[in-house]
Amino acid sequence: MAKLINGNKISGDIKNEIKEEVKELERVKGIKPGLGVILVGEDPASKVYVANKQKGCDEVGFLSDTVKLPETATEAEVLKQIEIYNSRKDIHGFLVQLPLPRQIDKTKVLEAISPLKDVDGFHPINIGKLFAQQDGFVPATPAGIIEMMKREKITIKGKNATMVGHSEIVGKPCALLLLNEWATVTVCHIETRDLKMHTINADILISAVGKPYLIKEDMVKDGAVVIDAGINRITVDKANPELLSWRKSDFDTKGATLIGDVDFQKVEQKASVITPVPGGVGLMTIAMLLKNTLKAAKDFAQLK
Ligand code: GUN
Repeated sequence: MAKLINGNKISGDIKNEIKEEVKELERVKGIKPGLGVILVGEDPASKVYVANKQKGCDEVGFLSDTVKLPETATEAEVLKQIEIYNSRKDIHGFLVQLPLPRQIDKTKVLEAISPLKDVDGFHPINIGKLFAQQDGFVPATPAGIIEMMKREKITIKGKNATMVGHSEIVGKPCALLLLNEWATVTVCHIETRDLKMHTINADILISAVGKPYLIKEDMVKDGAVVIDAGINRITVDKANPELLSWRKSDFDTKGATLIGDVDFQKVEQKASVITPVPGGVGLMTIAMLLKNTLKAAKDFAQLK
C-alpha cells in the first residue's frame, strides 16, 4: 500500500513559514505583501479558485484585492486594470484568472503584466527564466509538485519521470522543473500513441490532464511515486458503482465528488507514494502562489 502525501500538512507548513516571514517583513521594512486578482466573467470554477486565493491571503496576513469584470469586458478594460496593478505600490504580485472570455487575447493580457509582479509565472520572460534556470517566478502548481516531493525526501535526480499532460500551466513547466532537477523526462499528451509504454517505466509519474481514470494500475511501475494533479468533478449521475460507494458521503451531501486522473483505489496498491485528490496537489497551488507573492514583496523591499 502506498504512503499518502498529505497536501494539507505540507501546505499548512508552508503557510506557517510564510506567516512568520510576513511578520518579519512588516517589522523590518513596514511592508505587508499584497496580491491582486483580476477575474473576468462568471466561470464557476474560477470563482472558487479566486475565493480560495483570497482566503489564503487572509490566513498568512497578506493584503488581497480582487477586481471583478463582467463577461462582456473588453480587452482594453482588462489591460487598463493590469496597468493599475502594475503601478500600485501596495500590490506586489497579481494574476489574471484564466480562462478568459473569447473576445480577450490571452497572450496580450499575459504580456502586459509586469514580469516583476507576475506571480503566476505565465509571462514569457518568466517562462524564459525557468528555461534558463534564472531567478524568476515559477507557476504555482508545478512548483508545488516539486516542493511536495522535496519535503517528502523523494529523490528526483537520475529518476525516470513521465509527465502526462503538456499544458502551459502545469505539464510543460513541470517537465522543465523535473529536467532542472536532473530527472530523465518524458512528456506525454493527447497525441501520444501508446501512453502505457511511457508510464510503465516511470519512477515518478505525474498526471495533469483532467481525465478521470486515465492512469490505471497496469500503467504504473511497482513502487512508483504517483502525483495526481488532475481535478475532475463527478456528479452522482456520472459516477460508477465503485465511486458511488467510496465517496458515498460526498454524493449524499453535495451530489458530486472530486477525483483526479488516477484510478486511486487500485493504483495506491502498486505505488510506493501517492497524492490524494482532494487533499494533495491542489492545496499546494495556493501555498506556492502565496510564496511567489511573498517573493515579489521581498524583491520589492530588496530584502532576500
Ligand atoms: N486557471 C486555472 N489555473 C490557473 C492558475 O494557476 N492561474 C490562473 N491565473 N488561472 C488559472
